[in-house]
Amino acid sequence: MSIESPNDMKGLAEAGRVVRLALSEMARQVRPGITTAELDAIAGKVFRENGALSAPRLVYGFPGEACISVNEEAVHGIPGKRTLRAGDLVKLDVTVQKDGYMADAAMTVAVPPVSDAKMRLLACARAAFYQALTVARAGARVNDIGRAVENVVRKAGFAVVKELAGHGIGRLIHEEPSVPNYYDRSYNQRLTEGLVITIEPIIAMKSGRVVEERDGWTISTADRSATAHYEHTMVITRGRPILLTAA
Ligand code: CO
Repeated sequence: MSIESPNDMKGLAEAGRVVRLALSEMARQVRPGITTAELDAIAGKVFRENGALSAPRLVYGFPGEACISVNEEAVHGIPGKRTLRAGDLVKLDVTVQKDGYMADAAMTVAVPPVSDAKMRLLACARAAFYQALTVARAGARVNDIGRAVENVVRKAGFAVVKELAGHGIGRLIHEEPSVPNYYDRSYNQRLTEGLVITIEPIIAMKSGRVVEERDGWTISTADRSATAHYEHTMVITRGRPILLTAA
């Protein structure tokens, strides 16, 4: 969507606040021995206490409050009995709907101690996001974002998962435009003032090719190499984007 009124801004900011709260509460509890279902229950509690709903559950019938993906799982991991262990990279991806507005953010949390390579992967997803922020402004093209992400990821020796992309958001989870994490000349639409999008590098240690697991939801790397994900929802302006899901 595109922001058309102060009410739009207020509604999105409130959805963003709930996303941020859920993510920080979950991240604080990431430790060896906790199950992904227990982390998911934390998200559910935050949603209930703040009048929000899980958007993936509401829109797609996802079987959980939040998507929780571990190691080779890139996105849409189903919370369950899996127990976290030292060395895991845990991707927490939260999208809520509140009063008709949706916001989406993701972060990667390490269960220490993790390998240096995994820590570099985690840092790279975040660095690629912040590099993309520097080019995401009204008048730039959607593929300027992809170019920025891809440059950072390639230089670090990692790969973007090309099948997964950022997206427009606001009234629905996935709106136009799609925001790929690599340069593609066909994504040459201009970003406009007030446009609400996510930027979300999803990157892998090795090839970046992904497959769907038999559960029908989880997307994992084909070579089982680890992934990292970093995402915020933002409003495009003529200057720096306004992050709706960041502290
Ligand atoms: Co997203």
